[in-house]
Amino acid sequence: MSESTRKVVVTGGAGFIGSSLTEALVAEGAEVHVIDNLATGRLENLAHLSSESRLAVHELDVNDLDRTRAVFRGAREVYHLAALADIVPSIERPLEYTRANVDGTLHALEAAREAGVKRFVYTASSSCYGIPEAFPTPESAEMRPQYPYALSKMLGEQAALHWCSVYGLPVVSLRLFNVYGPRARTTGSYGAMFGVFLAQKLAGKPFTVVGDGSQTRDFTYVTDVVDAFLRAAKSSLSGVVFNVGSGKPTSVNRIVELLDGPAVHIPKRPGEPDCTHADTSRIRDALGFQPRVSIEQGARSMLDQIGHFERAPVWTPESISVATEAWFQHLDPSRRVEATP
Ligand SMILES: NC(=O)c1ccc[n+]([C@@H]2O[C@H](COP(=O)([O-])OP(=O)(O)OC[C@H]3O[C@@H](n4cnc5c(N)ncnc54)[C@H](O)[C@@H]3O)[C@@H](O)[C@H]2O)c1
Repeated sequence: MSESTRKVVVTGGAGFIGSSLTEALVAEGAEVHVIDNLATGRLENLAHLSSESRLAVHELDVNDLDRTRAVFRGAREVYHLAALADIVPSIERPLEYTRANVDGTLHALEAAREAGVKRFVYTASSSCYGIPEAFPTPESAEMRPQYPYALSKMLGEQAALHWCSVYGLPVVSLRLFNVYGPRARTTGSYGAMFGVFLAQKLAGKPFTVVGDGSQTRDFTYVTDVVDAFLRAAKSSLSGVVFNVGSGKPTSVNRIVELLDGPAVHIPKRPGEPDCTHADTSRIRDALGFQPRVSIEQGARSMLDQIGHFERAPVWTPESISVATEAWFQHLDPSRRVEATP
């Protein structure tokens, strides 16, 4: 790799969003170093880039500080996406989540500080807003994480902003809303809706719609998210938090229509909002971000790539009920045991 090229690091680069970001950075001509411990990521997400001499993949836990330091040395930008990102298991194994998402972020921040990187882009989550009161939800809304995944991502963001204010590390934090697109994560855990529905469609099973399906989500196509990362890295702003969303909520029932399948309904889950809707005015004004992919175009491209979901688990109402037992046990307020004073 030539010394004059721009060196960048993508942690979590073998994951869903990280692999798309890596692709875009390679296309920009950067020397890209991926750090990933393959907890949920897959090397095949980067297989189409395997002939790229400007890409190096380091199979590594970001908590391994010495080895992470070595990879960060000489990097201009760090995009920190490494995290455990499935929500349901975070309720069963909270310490695994804080280790990966909070400790992992602290180690990445420290390695970035020592390396003197010029931009550190942290990947935050709209789950920090919990059940918001204002729609569209601005960055100034109160943070009310409802489960350990949301808490861990919020703490990671606070750490990143702390490293910015104490050590002057140039940090931008992007709060992503419901990302979907090619290579969407399909681990054994019950998770993101598009992956669940497309695996069900391939198996000829009905889509398991939570509640009556009228709830809406701000589905954001992954190439729009990648564009936000690239804009954040190019800007000179720091210590700033941005929502990244389409700004156009779509109901689950509309997705069922677009993916064209029968539906079966499963119980609504406590702790989940009826709507997510990003106020994107800050990122539009500051970085010129404008989402380009409509939900109709995005859903069509997911259907075109449905083969990706062949090996994904096929969920049924019964298996979802078992997988989400801890969720109902801990997040249903009517079953919560109050602490005695
Ligand atoms: N997908 C979404 O809708 C969404 C929404 C908000 C925020 N995010 C955030 O975006 C980021 C990427 O999420 P994704 O959906 O692509 O999930 P993903 O699971 O596909 O990607 C996460 C990657 O991080 C890797 N990883 C986990 N722990 C690690 C560790 N300790 N060291 C090194 N690598 C590690 C995993 O192997 C995986 O490749 C995460 O930080 C997630 O919290 C995602």
